[in-house]
Amino acid sequence: MILGLESSCDETAAAVITPDGRILSNVVSSQADLHARYGGVVPEVASRRHLELVTPVLQESLAEAETSLDDVELIGVTAGPGLIGALLVGVAAAKAIAWARRLPLAAVDHLQGHVASLYLEPDPVEPPFLCLLASGGHTLLLDVQGRGDKARVLGTTLDDAAGEAFDKGARLLGLGYPGGAEIDRIAREGDPRAYEFPVARVPGLDFSFSGLKTALLHAVKELPPEELERRRADLAASYQRAIVRALVERTRQAAEQTGATRFAVVGGVAANSELRVSLPEAAAAPLALCTDNAAMIASAARFTRTIPYPGYLGLDAYASTA
Ligand code: KG4
Ligand code: ZN
Repeated sequence: MILGLESSCDETAAAVITPDGRILSNVVSSQADLHARYGGVVPEVASRRHLELVTPVLQESLAEAETSLDDVELIGVTAGPGLIGALLVGVAAAKAIAWARRLPLAAVDHLQGHVASLYLEPDPVEPPFLCLLASGGHTLLLDVQGRGDKARVLGTTLDDAAGEAFDKGARLLGLGYPGGAEIDRIAREGDPRAYEFPVARVPGLDFSFSGLKTALLHAVKELPPEELERRRADLAASYQRAIVRALVERTRQAAEQTGATRFAVVGGVAANSELRVSLPEAAAAPLALCTDNAAMIASAARFTRTIPYPGYLGLDAYASTA
């Protein structure tokens, strides 16, 4: 069995999967409530909370899978990119368990993890495919040729990530954190044609979301405060539509250019209901595997070079890939 650990942002997560990709447990403890009052993740607060949660979450994942460390053959842990202090908690825990048990360890890239969410049972997707990865930290169009390969980047965002645009937009609308799911929920009651928000046109296959956020800011500022409450759903629906349009247009364009016939969407924003409807031809993981979780990290561990005992003791986390 493979044990996965994820702590790159504000989810403390542990999962147990079988080598052929069946999920036996997938425990995610979100710290969202803890950070909500600040309107975003506070890195130092996140690190300390990970430290408190990592052991109970790990124990829960083993208990739920009705197994113990005796049955674990490989540990996969997110080594980056993410918040460095948060990552270090997961990496230290993984190293300690692997060392104590003389197990091999796989240092998993978080983004590869999101892609590997597609390789889990019961409906695994086989490369090649064109993959839109949209999360709170990244927006990427990837040409995925093989499960273990490093995917070729076809396009990325020039400023904010798609999830970040959702989160910042939610803040402007006075909605909670994290904002994507909130906008998704409230947009259902609004008219997506109420406001015309511009979708930035940048060359190539890249994205830009910062102009959109500014347009929303102006729209909100122009409203008398008592009107915001009444127009919130329309604003959310129109804003969501603009983000989804940008993502869908670019993904279709990339498919045209590369001749890809199969698509997939991964990452937290892949949980968005409008995006899922607007790209019906794209494979998408179940909602629980779109947002950060450890089953996807355990999945990626199967296709990542493993470091034999005790070579990983000097392993370091990394904040960014660049
Ligand atoms: O992949 P993820 O859990 O963490 C990162 O790796 O960043 O993605 C989190 C992002 C957040 O920005 C959140 O607002 C967004 O995914 N998100 C959504 C939805 N659920 C989560 N965005 C739009 N619609 C949703 N339903
Ligand atoms: Zn993520």
